[in-house]
This record gives sequence, structure tokens and C-alpha cells, in this order.
Amino acid sequence: MKRRINLIIKNASELITMRSAKAGPRCGHDMHELEIIADGAVAVDKDKIIDVGRSKTIAAKYQAAKTIDAGGKTVTPGLIDAHTHPVFAGDRSNEFEMRLKGATYQEISAAGGGIKSTVKAVRKASEKELVHISLPRLESFISCGTTTIDAKSGYGLTLDDELKMLRVIRDLGKIQPLELIPTFLGAHEIPPEYQGRKNEYVKLITEQMIPAVINDKLAEFCDIFCEKGVFEIEESRYILDFARKHGLKIKLHADEFAPLGGAELAAELGAISADHLMAVSDKGIRAMKEKGVIAVLLPGTTFTLGLKNYAPARKIIDNGNPMALATDFNPGTCFCESLPAIMNIACTQMKMTPAEALTATTINAAWAIGRGESLGSMERGKQADLVIWNIPSYKHIPYHFGVNLAMAVIKRGKRVI
Ligand code: NIG
Ligand code: FE
Repeated sequence: MKRRINLIIKNASELITMRSAKAGPRCGHDMHELEIIADGAVAVDKDKIIDVGRSKTIAAKYQAAKTIDAGGKTVTPGLIDAHTHPVFAGDRSNEFEMRLKGATYQEISAAGGGIKSTVKAVRKASEKELVHISLPRLESFISCGTTTIDAKSGYGLTLDDELKMLRVIRDLGKIQPLELIPTFLGAHEIPPEYQGRKNEYVKLITEQMIPAVINDKLAEFCDIFCEKGVFEIEESRYILDFARKHGLKIKLHADEFAPLGGAELAAELGAISADHLMAVSDKGIRAMKEKGVIAVLLPGTTFTLGLKNYAPARKIIDNGNPMALATDFNPGTCFCESLPAIMNIACTQMKMTPAEALTATTINAAWAIGRGESLGSMERGKQADLVIWNIPSYKHIPYHFGVNLAMAVIKRGKRVI
């Protein structure tokens, strides 16, 4: 007797399962272990994966209410974007143009642009407006094969506006299929009204914002822009330590422009991830490895800023550190929802292989957002988040760039594209 289930996807030229006997992100050479099943099929019941195997084997075991024929194309787990800023109002195309004419990100910020200009626009927008403007961005993520994202606040920078942003993130998660993991980023910038009074803003974050965020259950993670002239090491340690002691998991924007020692701080505090790392030191890489901090690299940002100093991905991988890739989607430094585009940049500019890039946007990205047990691979009991790509092999995801290759996207067992 065949077991009755909801869905079978069959006839995948490559079913990229990313299965593994050991839990945890894949490091070093293991990033090439994609556990591919040729002529593969995946069996889904309700919102969960229940089996994977050869198409014939799956057909012999299960009777599905619905079957999707992948037609000799590639099937992967849904991509996971471990670092995004998807809620904002306005745009910064003017700054894009200013940078092309030679201004730097820091100069634009010092002149009142940058994050501060988005903060102005977000403070003016209502919750309803922010939901409305952000929705099409989320559709864009999904249409490029992403099924889960980390979503940060950080453009409000008052108690009310930060809570407003986090409520928008929560509500967006309820009205469309992309899954959003909320991250509180009140320490994204020193707001203009606290210029010269940074300590008072730090107090506002710890004494009012973090307790309110926890009380209203609006975030899982606390993040910080740890950077020269923004939140330096001491302030970052204070805020993150406070957040951690009050039950939030922590991550950092670390060593993006200046080698401040953000990676070392991430290791010291037991952060889940340290992100950016363009200027990370060798000591920082070693400290992160020792504590299992995941390096989340954001090469789309380096690319958009027109810089050459990409994070040392090869060094990080070859040293055996866990690592993931993300878009850093935001209006200033990387206005891109497409992880396949980021994978292309990671391969061509940081010399990652296509297999490493896929591992870094599936199972390793799942661990970087605290979802390693439930997302990122096709294993019995994991959530059925899947993508059928219009390509014969996974290598085409970074190779065939600039067009959308995702043919069908399944989220929690339901086809959403
Ligand atoms: O991750 N570096 C700081 N934060 C964002 C940029 C945000 C912005 O410019 O609006 C980042 O790159
Ligand atoms: Fe960021």
C-alpha cells in the first residue's frame, strides 16, 4: 500500500538535497558535499519534506494528491538570505549617482545622507504605508528563489519608530509567503537628535528599546553597526552583551570598512554571525572559527560601492570557518533582492565555487539565522521550501547571470510562484 501524501516533485536532473549526517554548517571542503540525487524526487506532506530519492523509488512508495514534473530541471532547497534591510521608505538613487562621481559612502553619510536620509523617510511613513511599499520587494525575493530572509529594523532610531518597523516586519510575515526572521537594529546609526550625545542614545537602546522589543516579542536577534565613527567596540560590547543577557541572539555588522576588531568581539560574545568582514584580520578569522561564529559575506555591497576589497572568502573557507552569503538588500549599499546575482559576484570576485555558493545560501544561511534544524536542506521533517530552476545543473545558478532562472517556488509545501 502506498502512503498518501500531498505533493511529489519528480524528474529533477539534479535534486540538490544538501543532506548531511552531522548537524551544523558545512565548513571547508564539506561545502562541496551537495548530496545530489540524479533523476531525483522529493515527497512532501502538508508543509514538511518526508522523503527524497530516485523518481522511481518515490513513485513506488507514495501516492500524491499533486505531482509536479520538474522536466529534467534542477531542484534545490529554497534559498535563505541571512542579512537584509527590506523595510524602508524612499530610495537613494541620488547617492548611487554621487558615488559614481567619486563621493564615498562615508562622505555622503557625514553630509547627512546615507542611513540618516532613509531614517527621515521612515519616520514620516505610517505602518500601513511601510507594509504597502515593502510588499513588492518581498515578491521580488521570492521570484528569485528566496524563501526565508533575516529582516532588520534600524531606520527608525526612536523607540516608537523601531517598534513600528518591527511590527511591519511581523505583519508582512503574515500576509505573504516569504518567511521573515526579525532582527532589531536600533544601533544602526546615531540619530541626528543625539549627535554628540551617543552615550544617551546607547542608554535609550538598552533601557527602553531592547526591553520593549522583548516584551512585545518583536525580534529574535539584536544586530549592531559596529564601525569606526558609528558604534565602536566598547559600545557594541555593552549593547550586545545587554541584549544577549536579556534573551536575544546576537549578530554584528563587523569590520566592514575599518579593521576595528568586530570579528574578535563576535567571538568573545558568542554571536551567531559576524557580517560584512571586508576588513577582517587574520586574528579575527581565527577567533571566529574557535567559537563557531558564522561569517556572513555580503559581496553585493562591495560591488555596489564600487570597491575592490572583497571580504577574504577563500581565506575564511580554507581556514575551515563556517560561512554564508547574503544580499544585504538595502537602499544604500546593495539594492538587490537576488541571491543568484550575489552568488555570481561571490564566484567571480571572491573565487568561490558554485557548490560553495549554494551551500552558503542554503544550509549555512539557515544556521546563520538560527534555523539550521528546520530549513536549508531536504531532510525528513524539515519545512518543504523548494525551488525548481530552469537549468540542467546547479552550476548554472551563478553562471547564467542577469536573468531569473527560478521556475517554481514552493513555500511550506505550497506553490507560491
Ligand atoms: O549593511 N553598513 C551598514 N548598514 C547597511 C547599509 C544601510 C544603508 O546604507 O542604508 C549595510 O551595508
Ligand atoms: Fe546590513
